Amino acid sequence: MREVDVIIVGAGAAGMMAAIEAGKRGRRVLLFDHAKAPGEKIRISGGGRCNFTNTGTRPDRFISSNPRFAISALKRYTPQHFIALVDRYGIAWHEKALGQLFCDGASTQIVNLLVSELRTAGAALELSTTLESVSREGERFLVKLSSGAVRCASLVVASGGKSIPKMGATGLGYRLAEQFGLKVTETRPALVPLTFEPRMLEKLGPLAGVSTEAIATAGDKSFREALLFTHRGLSGPAILQISSYWREGDPIRLDVVPGVDVVAVLKRARQELPKLALQTVLAAHLPKRLAQLMAEEIGIEGQIGDFSDKKLASAEAVLKDWTMKPTGTEGYRTAEVTLGGVDTADLDSATMQARAVPGLFFIGECVDVTGWLGGYNFQWAWSSGWAAGQVA
Ligand code: FDA
Repeated sequence: MREVDVIIVGAGAAGMMAAIEAGKRGRRVLLFDHAKAPGEKIRISGGGRCNFTNTGTRPDRFISSNPRFAISALKRYTPQHFIALVDRYGIAWHEKALGQLFCDGASTQIVNLLVSELRTAGAALELSTTLESVSREGERFLVKLSSGAVRCASLVVASGGKSIPKMGATGLGYRLAEQFGLKVTETRPALVPLTFEPRMLEKLGPLAGVSTEAIATAGDKSFREALLFTHRGLSGPAILQISSYWREGDPIRLDVVPGVDVVAVLKRARQELPKLALQTVLAAHLPKRLAQLMAEEIGIEGQIGDFSDKKLASAEAVLKDWTMKPTGTEGYRTAEVTLGGVDTADLDSATMQARAVPGLFFIGECVDVTGWLGGYNFQWAWSSGWAAGQVA
């Protein structure tokens, strides 16, 4: 029977990073994946340009039952460490908005970097390999793979979450956690478009493809980013971000004219251009089709010159606090990540090791640590993978 020091389940961002680090320490590492290629999510990420980190990485950019859990790993392997690695490979990158770093070229450059590092570190990569069973044999693990049984001292689970099953997501990490007695918090799709009931869709449908800057709010959380109307409802960064905080039955609120003093704008129009219709005035601040819909929502007919101050204030209220109730999300089919996962209470935050099962580690998306949109989820994958790789 094959014997190795470390087996890593899942050759995604976190698994490759852990394999590289453990390999560098001279550990015999076997990294396997049921997919035909490593890092498939890296390949499709960031619209093909991989938003590989965020220079504004801070604990409050992550959602977890224990918001302090991520601090140790994020502090020890920082965005600057990953940027240095990217620079060492001569991969050109640029900063988009809000500290988000993207490759100038294809995201496969990041996959190639990791595969090259795996080789240098001497870690073995086995693709198209499935897991049949895992059991404890004394201090070691017996891992039965489709390619045969292997014994190891450390088992690192990096099999990701449930999002995008078409790309190989299986939820295996949660099952392994439960097999070894670890708790798993409630999981749900996150960074995902929101859907609406047919009557609302009839209203929003004609706007499909329209994008505008907005502030989306759910509860006490707000994001000011782009909002995109789709045939199924709402998407765009503002909505993906707020989807991580929204819960079924809750409303969301949209300010579609952020930073605009609507009453002042309308008063000026009333004085200077009294014959204009409201939607024409709004069209100076909103895409034309959205201006038309918002004028309908406000429900005031006629020329702006005839509007009372009260009417102008009510127009502002609608534009800055457009409230609607999503019926759901597009689900794991399109969600960028899975919220929730292996309970951090059962893991050591410095090493990602299960407190009650020495040698068993959980890293990356399968852990109950979920980043905002903007490169934070890859940073968590790098940091948690690095942390496990120092000890596994
Ligand atoms: P990841 O899912 O990457 O890897 C898990 C691996 O385990 C996969 O290779 C899978 O095949 C394998 N696996 C699963 N089940 C298995 C089984 N039963 N047997 C064997 N292998 C198994 N984040 C970000 O920071 N910036 C970005 O630009 C983007 N963009 C983006 C776009 C899209 C479309 C999606 C879906 C997601 C993103 N993300 C992102 C999120 C990011 O991709 C995600 O957080 C990380 O890939 C998580 O890394 P992990 O290594 O934990 O899981």
